[in-house]
Amino acid sequence: MGRQLQELDQMKAEFLANISHELRTPLTSIREGTQLLLDQVPGPVTPEQRQTLEILLDSSQRLNQLIASLLDLSKMEANMMTYNFSPTRLTQLVQHTVDKVQLLAERKHIQFVIDDQLPPEHLLPLDGIRIEQALENLLSNALKFSPHDSSITLTLHCNLKTHVTAIAVKDEGPGIHPEDLPHIFDRFYQGKTPEGETRFGSGIGLALAKKVVEAHHGTIWIDSEQGNGTTVHFTLPAEMLRETAHAS
Ligand SMILES: Nc1ncnc2c1ncn2[C@@H]1O[C@H](COP(=O)(O)OP(=O)(O)OP(=O)(O)O)[C@@H](O)[C@H]1O
Ligand SMILES: [Mg+2]
Repeated sequence: MGRQLQELDQMKAEFLANISHELRTPLTSIREGTQLLLDQVPGPVTPEQRQTLEILLDSSQRLNQLIASLLDLSKMEANMMTYNFSPTRLTQLVQHTVDKVQLLAERKHIQFVIDDQLPPEHLLPLDGIRIEQALENLLSNALKFSPHDSSITLTLHCNLKTHVTAIAVKDEGPGIHPEDLPHIFDRFYQGKTPEGETRFGSGIGLALAKKVVEAHHGTIWIDSEQGNGTTVHFTLPAEMLRETAHAS
């Protein structure tokens, strides 16, 4: 039964890989064509036309990202994702990820506070690209749910006895309803949205972050109380991981 499920997961991953290739090709044409119009190569555009084109470009970029995340998640679920571990400075990785979402933060006047308690020589065997992807999902959630003019605090700490590194992302948002908490890492699960508010996203971010952390033999969990913000914690053990491919 277990093997059959695994085979089904692999078939699903291969199917998604084919579909996403088919979807991405026309999507690239749409994106490039829109960019061309925005650059006024075929001719001048009016401010109203520019506004519509920017919405088009933004939507096609979001769709591209969604396809990429779906494909990554299904590969992870089918144990078909290849991880490349190499000694990485977490401090730099965190700073780089924060830089990537800085513009979004500025739009909401949100400040990032990095409480880095790691020693300067601290190195971890990580797949930096995947850990950045996981962290970006956590930061994007924190930014999405945080109110304007608030802070998001990232704490980096290493336990000197166990050599386990812990990362926490704390926001001052509305928190998570207790009914949603047990399901929050399930694929496609999204918490209830207050009436009248639009729901953004697809419920993939936390499922993907969990898979990445587990592939590094770490754990991920959430502390959240309604009205009191949310903190997502994850750990990364220090032992050198031998698997360089097909980590689950
Ligand atoms: N920092 C947070 N504050 C409040 N709720 C959160 C936070 N992070 C996650 N959630 C809740 O967990 C749900 C699942 O999060 P997840 O990142 O998996 O999906 P999403 O953000 O809705 O969509 P996607 O990540 O695909 O864009 C969210 O819909 C939200 O209800
Ligand atoms: Mg998300």
